[in-house]
Amino acid sequence: MRVLIVHAHHEPTSFNTALLTTARETLAAAGHELRVSDLYAMGFQPVSDRRNFRTVANAERLDQQAEERLAAASGGFADDVAAEIEKLLWCDHLIFQFPIWWLGLPAILKGWVDRVFALGVAYGGGRWFDGGALAGRRAMLSVTVGGTAEVYSDIGVYGPAEDILFPIHRGIFGFTGFQVIEPFVVYGPGRMDPTTRAGVLAAYREKLLGLERAAVLPMPKVADYERLVLKPGLRPAAP
Ligand SMILES: Cc1cc2nc3c(=O)[nH]c(=O)nc-3n(C[C@H](O)[C@H](O)[C@H](O)COP(=O)(O)O)c2cc1C
Repeated sequence: MRVLIVHAHHEPTSFNTALLTTARETLAAAGHELRVSDLYAMGFQPVSDRRNFRTVANAERLDQQAEERLAAASGGFADDVAAEIEKLLWCDHLIFQFPIWWLGLPAILKGWVDRVFALGVAYGGGRWFDGGALAGRRAMLSVTVGGTAEVYSDIGVYGPAEDILFPIHRGIFGFTGFQVIEPFVVYGPGRMDPTTRAGVLAAYREKLLGLERAAVLPMPKVADYERLVLKPGLRPAAP
């Protein structure tokens, strides 16, 4: 496998970094290729604006997708974005490693997606889901949450973790063509005793070793959508 881990945690002693270290050791020992984008360590700039580009399609009005279209066609991405795009296109397995913040992605990781999953690179030209620009690749979320499994249950105050992760699974990974591996979710690492902690890291090791065979989540099939939902001739223009 060629694995890219995008790591979004600022603290080396965090459980997230322990999961990253487990992945580094496990994947290397199994002979897989691994690259890591450690966003805080890199000082990754997450704000998406004209700094994404060296080229300019329209200096009067910033239309991000129009600028992305031009940059993708002409090698016009800024160096930091181009370097991440190169890693994204290199990998066959993508892992996001992060703590849930406000039931979503930490801003630095959301900004990585906003800037790197560019039109012309990750989507566009009518390519989406199983016909997506990144089809043939697989992706997985490895996340920690502060809450217990109970608060993320059907009757818990937050609801199931799968519901919270849906926008990432469907709107980022599925949309761009990834097959989405069932996530690895760790509840309340701050409250774990050492034995439980070691057990969770061992379970993550097993998950990583089985990544190529791991079950994937159901995703829409474009052909089914067109056949069942869209009437012939009414297909909206995809971005
Ligand atoms: C800004 C911020 C927002 C957070 N939001 C949530 C949340 O919405 N739900 C939750 O369960 N935990 C939340 N937490 C707790 C973290 O998810 C938790 O501390 C982390 O997963 C523990 O892993 P770590 O030791 O690697 O940081 C939040 C923490 C911070 C700093």
